[in-house]
Amino acid sequence: MASIITRGATSVMDWVNARAPALMPMYRKHMTEYYAPKNFNIWYIFGVLSLVVLVNQIVTGIFLTMHFKPSAAEAFASVEYIMRDVEWGWLIRYMHSTGASMFFIVVYLHMFRGLMYGSYQKPRELVWILGMLIYLVLMAEAFMGYVLPWGQMSFWGAKVIISLFGAIPVIGNGLTEWIMGDYLPGDATLNRFFALHVIAMPLVLLLLVVLHLGALHEVGSNNPDGVDIKKVKGNRWDANKPADGIPFHPYYTVKDLVFVGFFLMLSAFVIFFAPAFGGWFLEHDNFTEANRLVTPAHIKPVWYYTPYYAMLRVIPDKLGGVIVMFSAIAVLFAVPWLDRSPVRSHRYRGWMTKVALGVLAVCFVWLGKIGAGPGTDPVETQIGRVLTFLYFAFFFTMPLWTKLDKTKPVPERVTMHD
Ligand code: HEM
Repeated sequence: MASIITRGATSVMDWVNARAPALMPMYRKHMTEYYAPKNFNIWYIFGVLSLVVLVNQIVTGIFLTMHFKPSAAEAFASVEYIMRDVEWGWLIRYMHSTGASMFFIVVYLHMFRGLMYGSYQKPRELVWILGMLIYLVLMAEAFMGYVLPWGQMSFWGAKVIISLFGAIPVIGNGLTEWIMGDYLPGDATLNRFFALHVIAMPLVLLLLVVLHLGALHEVGSNNPDGVDIKKVKGNRWDANKPADGIPFHPYYTVKDLVFVGFFLMLSAFVIFFAPAFGGWFLEHDNFTEANRLVTPAHIKPVWYYTPYYAMLRVIPDKLGGVIVMFSAIAVLFAVPWLDRSPVRSHRYRGWMTKVALGVLAVCFVWLGKIGAGPGTDPVETQIGRVLTFLYFAFFFTMPLWTKLDKTKPVPERVTMHD
């Protein structure tokens, strides 16, 4: 029986190979002959987990689209219908809404890994830039998705965020109206956000992810030691390939599966037992239908935007706040050129890098907490200003501290400790 299946599979493969001879070399280049450093640690799982969540969002999104009604009159009720009447609809919806938060958790950890190990340094600048473009599109995608269920926070969140464009001199008001297609978020807004959320943005996202991985595979993966593994050649599979490289498939595919399993269990726990996650993943106000006559007590975006939202709020001037908020994201694009260290990984850098990375992480999380609060405490506002200053100081002084920081000699070969 087994030999019949093997022979059948081989002949199908031969048939495909004869007609599309470029496929097999491509598979080899990216899977069985992609030599990844053998010292990857847990921080290297988040790229794969981002891919897993991306697939989850697309698949559950397709099923949600089958039952969702993209109109201001029907959207909220259609989501309730999905939750109560569509078979397994509640599961599909919670997989999608939890997936959105999981996406940002793994992407933030993935980005922080890049900062820790200097993965953006030459020759991986393009990998970083493409990653940043993914991050931008992801934020736009999640924002538009949040508007679709047409709850109170969908409506008021959309109003506050789109109105930010009104701070731009001369064209501001016209631009706001153009984006909404109305004077307030309404049917036109919902329709266009639906089109962008279900087709335009996912297509761009997929394209960017393919380019991101293509760019990475051209230069090869970095690793926790920041060692260039291409320098020492000769492994047991190929004398011309990196000595410290192992084939991505099957070695890392199998290893990654263990972590993917663990991640899915963790996500399942949230989906089944705490899908709103105390109001962090789905805000309480969004379980009430949008009403333009009733403003929620405090309007705030979902947690993954709150660090930037806090920056917007602690700056007294509206235009100033908008500029600071967008600059906080834009400055990340420049990281490959701000870092002047001759060494990639923090393992072989001095205390300055470690302190700076720690300060950045604390600022980001604390700002996130401030942005999620009501924003009425003046002491918190002052703290927010200090944190915003420190956030920018990390980047603007980066050329300095990366140059001054004492480095240790980087070994020739990767090390296997963690
Ligand atoms: C949909 C979102 C994303 C997906 C699916 C994705 C996927 C991946 C995968 C599979 C890898 C290889 C495995 C790994 O090193 O973890 C990778 C590497 C990398 N990604 Fe992403 N990524 C995403 C977003 C981002 C973002 C937002 C950034 C940063 C701005 C980024 C920066 C990088 C860098 C610098 C590497 C190379 C890491 C190294 O070799 O050390 N990625 N990405």
